[in-house]
Order: sequence, then structure tokens, then C-alpha cells
Amino acid sequence: MLDGAKGTASDVYVLDVGDAGANRLRLLDRVYGASTRRMLHDAGLREGSRVLDLACGIGAISCWLAGQVGTSGRVLAGDVNPEQLAVAKSHCAQCDHPIPIEYLEVDAYETGLASHSFDVVHMRLLLCHLTSPSKVIAEAYRLLRPGGVLVCQDLKLSSVFCSPESAAYTRFVQLGMAMGLKLGVDYDFGVRLPAAAAGAGFQSIRVYLEQPAYLSGPEKQLWEHTFAETVPVMVRTGVATAEELNELLKQMRAIAQDGSVLIAQACLPGIVAVK
Ligand SMILES: C[S@@+](CC[C@H](N)C(=O)[O-])C[C@H]1O[C@@H](n2cnc3c(N)ncnc32)[C@H](O)[C@@H]1O
Repeated sequence: MLDGAKGTASDVYVLDVGDAGANRLRLLDRVYGASTRRMLHDAGLREGSRVLDLACGIGAISCWLAGQVGTSGRVLAGDVNPEQLAVAKSHCAQCDHPIPIEYLEVDAYETGLASHSFDVVHMRLLLCHLTSPSKVIAEAYRLLRPGGVLVCQDLKLSSVFCSPESAAYTRFVQLGMAMGLKLGVDYDFGVRLPAAAAGAGFQSIRVYLEQPAYLSGPEKQLWEHTFAETVPVMVRTGVATAEELNELLKQMRAIAQDGSVLIAQACLPGIVAVK
């Protein structure tokens, strides 16, 4: 594990896992999930599709996928972190879909799964956490059958903004980008995703941009919660002091209650790309 990482075996994952991170990932799906599902439909997801949900997290999208592919399809949900998979499985046990989901502890760099075995590979917010994201795009390419489709959304952290501007958000975004630099990852990787997919051999690449914004409601606080989870790693990597970060979080909580301030959540650039 690289210095600074919070717990994921193979790379530099700075967010909470298991029960501690589950509510934030559910909220994330409320903010971005509609766009993800639209992209999966655009990709041709249908009854009989064989789908890999790679870095499935708590499985926010896996059960929905299982509902789409019918009894003749297949959904494999993989994540490197067993605590994420435990939450995904317990949530799944309460769902009603026509096929069981296959859960697998798997490293996205080297899944060990058979080549050409999926019609759709889905990855959301994985690549920005990796030091070598292009290797994982190549692995997704290997796993897809010819004509299979990659559906991928990733992050442009620097796109978070408030109106009127908030110094607290501006500072936290700067610190987040600085932490990424220290850890060898790029929290703006999303903007490089289309070119990286082209470099891996994908064709007919359709590009999507999703940036929801809120004046009120729990969704408005998604990035506040995300930043809060990064505090221990920011402190450990020397990006900022706990005192400064706690003060920024206090200001962010005040902004959440102020219905005159708009918060634009991070833009997720995404692609639907054909092998
Ligand atoms: C931000 S979460 C996104 C989860 C899910 N895709 C979603 O959108 O709700 C990123 C996930 O990537 C997983 N992860 C990090 N590095 C990984 C790796 N090398 N291989 C597989 N999963 C990994 C983490 O454990 C975490 O569950």
C-alpha cells in the first residue's frame, strides 16, 4: 500500500469503505445514477447482456444491472475491497432480481477473468483513484468481446464550484488536487478519459458530461461528505492541518444550510466506447 492510502490493498484509495462509506456512495448514486443508467441504455444494455461492474463499491448499480439483463444475462460485480463487497452483498440480499449477482474480490489491474467474456464493462469513479489508469482501461478492453462496450464515468474534481463563490470550497478543491499529486493520482482524470480510451483501441467514443447542481437537499452535501472522508489522508500527506480542514468543513456545513448558495457537484466526464 502506498503511503497515504486509507485501506485498499492495491492502490491509493483515500475514501471510507464498508459501512462507514456506504451512505456517501448511496448519495453519490442519487446524484449521478440517472446519467449512469442512461449511458448504460445508450450502450445497448439489454436482456441477455453479460455485464461486468468493475470496482462496484457497495453495488449501487449492480442490482439495477441484474434487473435489466433478465434470466439469460450475467452480472459480475467485482471490487478489490472485501468490506465494500460485504455491504454490496447484504444490500443485494434484500433486492429482487431474476438472476443472482456473482460477487468477486478482484483487482481491476489484473482481474484474472477470461478475455472477450463481457458485452458491457461498467466502471464509475475508479480510474481517478489509480496510479496507472490506462492499464485498467486496457484490461477492460481485453475483457470485452469484439463489439462490446465500455461505459465509464470519472472525475473532474477541479470543476466543483459555488455561486456565489465560496473560499472554503475553492480551498478544499485545491487541497484535494494537491493530495492527488502527492499520491500519484489525478482527480481530474475524467477529462483525459476519452483520449485514454482511444489510445487503448476503443472506437466510436461518445463523450458525456454530467454536472448536477443544488441549492438545497442532501445531494448538495455530496462533496462536503467526500472531503470530510479525505481529512485523515490530507493530514497524513502533509497537505493541510486538521485545524484548517475542520474550519473549512464548518464553513461548508453552513453553506449547505444557505438556500441562496448554489453548489455545482464535480463534473463527471464519461464515455460509451466500442471495442
Ligand atoms: C468511489 S468508489 C466507486 C464505487 C462504485 N463504482 C460507484 O460508483 O458507486 C471506488 C471503488 O473502487 C474500488 N477500488 C479501488 N482500487 C481498486 C482496484 N485496484 N481494483 C478494484 N477496485 C478498486 C474501491 O474499493 C471502491 O469501492
